[in-house]
Amino acid sequence: MLFSPKNITFGVLLIPGYQWLDAVGPVDYINSHSHAMMQMPAATESLRAKAPIINWHYISSEGNFNPISASAGPPHIPTVNFTSCPPLDYLLIPGPALSARLYEECSSFIHERFSTLKGLLTVCTGSIYFAQSGLLDGVHVASNKVALKYLVETGRLNRKVKWVGDKRFVRDGKIWSSAGITSGLDLAAEFARVHFDPELVDFARNLTEYDSNPAQPDPFAPILDGVDLD
Ligand SMILES: *[C@@H]1O[C@H](CO)[C@@H](O)[C@H](O)[C@H]1NC(C)=O
Ligand SMILES: *[C@@H]1O[C@H](CO)[C@@H](O)[C@H](O)[C@H]1NC(C)=O
Repeated sequence: MLFSPKNITFGVLLIPGYQWLDAVGPVDYINSHSHAMMQMPAATESLRAKAPIINWHYISSEGNFNPISASAGPPHIPTVNFTSCPPLDYLLIPGPALSARLYEECSSFIHERFSTLKGLLTVCTGSIYFAQSGLLDGVHVASNKVALKYLVETGRLNRKVKWVGDKRFVRDGKIWSSAGITSGLDLAAEFARVHFDPELVDFARNLTEYDSNPAQPDPFAPILDGVDLD
């Protein structure tokens, strides 16, 4: 049988202080479908043949010269910087603190890469951070609901974005966004369902013992009851 796995290149933007689970959840979940993971003895030849090779790049401005600390866990060493980062198919943006400003270098990187990306995924406040680029104007996007409520109450919500307050994740064109922290796992599961072979998706579900939540009903939607996101 001809063996020709698909290659996928993923970048993960490491913004200092980002929520660890925002990155680790989707990265590990998506990677559970990879050709590398399917080398485990419990996987079959059929799964190996269907599994994509997934290349991961961890991006920060200074590349491997400056370890990044997340909300928890050990400091990690990025693998590439904005200039050495190879062409990407997908970019994942985990959520940093609300006070994190999209700095010039990072903004240029995102603008340069955006048109050639097949998809951009945000988790939690990653969408609020990325919205500073202007690339989410008019786009339907989810974000952390506690953060959205706080931004409305303090008059700082970016109202050019079409915020969605009652879904765990939203896909609008090539923007895939999720709500608070754990919903990144559900976004990852949706990404896998859309992109990968059903047998592989079923195997990863068994392997991770995770039944993903649908976008709706969203049990956390009441956080935004009466909050004006328009
Ligand atoms: C980016 O990484 C490349 C390759 O490791 C290195 O040559 C370059 O100096 C780095 N740029 C910055 C700004 O650190
Ligand atoms: C996943 O587990 C179920 C049993 O719950 C089994 O029927 C199914 O074949 C498994 N899927 C794969 C791809 O191994």
